[in-house]
Amino acid sequence: MNLRIKPLDEILATAQKKSLHRTLGPFQLTMLGVGAIIGTGIFVLTSEAAQLAGPGMKVSFVIAGFVCAVCALCYAELASMVPVSGSAYTYSYAVMGELVAWIVGWALILEYAVAASAVSVGWSNYFVGVMERAFHWHIPIAMSKGAYAYAGGFINLPAVTIATLVTALLYIGTRESAWVNTTLVVIKIIALTIFCALALPVIMEPNFHPFMPLGWWGTGQAAASIFFAYVGFDAVSTAAEETKNPQRNVPIGLIGSLVICTIFYLLVAAGAIGSVGAQPVIINGIGLTPGSPEFVIACQQAGNVASLACSDEPLAHVLAVIGWSKIASLIGLAAFLALPSVILMMLFGQTRIFFVMSRDGLLPEVLSSVHPRFKTPHVVTLVTGFFVVIAAAFLPVGELANISNSGTLLAFAMVAVVVMMLRVRDPARVRGFRTPWIWLIGPLAVLGCILLFVLLTYKAKMVFVVWASIGLVAYYLYGYRKSHLGRAGG
Ligand code: ALA
Repeated sequence: MNLRIKPLDEILATAQKKSLHRTLGPFQLTMLGVGAIIGTGIFVLTSEAAQLAGPGMKVSFVIAGFVCAVCALCYAELASMVPVSGSAYTYSYAVMGELVAWIVGWALILEYAVAASAVSVGWSNYFVGVMERAFHWHIPIAMSKGAYAYAGGFINLPAVTIATLVTALLYIGTRESAWVNTTLVVIKIIALTIFCALALPVIMEPNFHPFMPLGWWGTGQAAASIFFAYVGFDAVSTAAEETKNPQRNVPIGLIGSLVICTIFYLLVAAGAIGSVGAQPVIINGIGLTPGSPEFVIACQQAGNVASLACSDEPLAHVLAVIGWSKIASLIGLAAFLALPSVILMMLFGQTRIFFVMSRDGLLPEVLSSVHPRFKTPHVVTLVTGFFVVIAAAFLPVGELANISNSGTLLAFAMVAVVVMMLRVRDPARVRGFRTPWIWLIGPLAVLGCILLFVLLTYKAKMVFVVWASIGLVAYYLYGYRKSHLGRAGG
């Protein structure tokens, strides 16, 4: 067992030596959080949740939100103690040692890079809708869906384009990116507010029955999937090294952004279910798997075409069904304009994690070089962007989201473990924020993550296992020998 541990003080010192520019304040940071959170989850995967849980998806939103809330409280304590880039990876390095840190960093690649791909694909759905409504321009499926066997797709060109553009934006610099991000966040918040204002007043009680047509199992699976909608608040902690007074501002950004988004989600879910109904497509008593060939075919049948579960753009769909077609188009337009802010934050988080891993010698040094003019980690931005584009080109959104969740859940659980271990090992260290009732919140966070992981699709869990195995091999072939800590005899 490898137990190279990097002391917290050393982590803080390294960060000071080779640091990024500190430009972000509490408002911008909260906006970064909201920018990373509200996205494909609520705008696209709501239909997937409806298919898995029916109206019970309301409970799924609560379960996933609860797990994220307890995890965010743990994140906030660590981020206030160790305000450096690298998030769960850095914290694990300080407490559990290099091998665990590497596994967490490797899992974070699934979280951020795969999420960036997922959101690019979700954005593509709205792009196709906007083009159709605004210009009657029908984009052929071969150019707007990836090459998954049954859908007739080949390459998702809109997703490729948006992922490439966002990579270019990040290459140019954080400050510009944060400014653009804030504008897009405002658009998203306006869109969700309008959605709630129109959908909530027309809620009808019968639309909530049967409440859990596929039982608790379906509701749990929907929670594991819709968890994706909340992911992103942790990206705030990856910006710690670019934040002014991070001990105070990072916890504000983490918790503030999660609270804002949770309130919106619960209202949006209630509005969607109550206004148009959310019954899943069930054939012969079996709820079809979202995205499966049978599901795609069933969704083309007259009785199902108009159901929430079958919609590619669920929020626009709801408004169209309740008679607000023009506003529905505007909501589609808002998603089209604003989802890129999520891609931006996911890519941002990914590049910062790679940056720190390479600064530690676990990945090639060239990745942590900072651009002389733009002051951004430009090499790592290009490398990440490349892989995100490839995944977005060929894979479906639901699967990408589930795979991303698997990595996120591991990282979140580790953060909770680390925060508890540090309370025991290093109780005197100054904490800008202390997780309340840590011996209740910490174990709840770990158990919640394990539960949601178990409820993920079999495919996502398998991808996770394969990815982790590749990571272990990579570590022993490269990181173990090149690690700065290892070379220093740590
Ligand atoms: N929470 C982000 C989204 O839903 C990742 O798109």
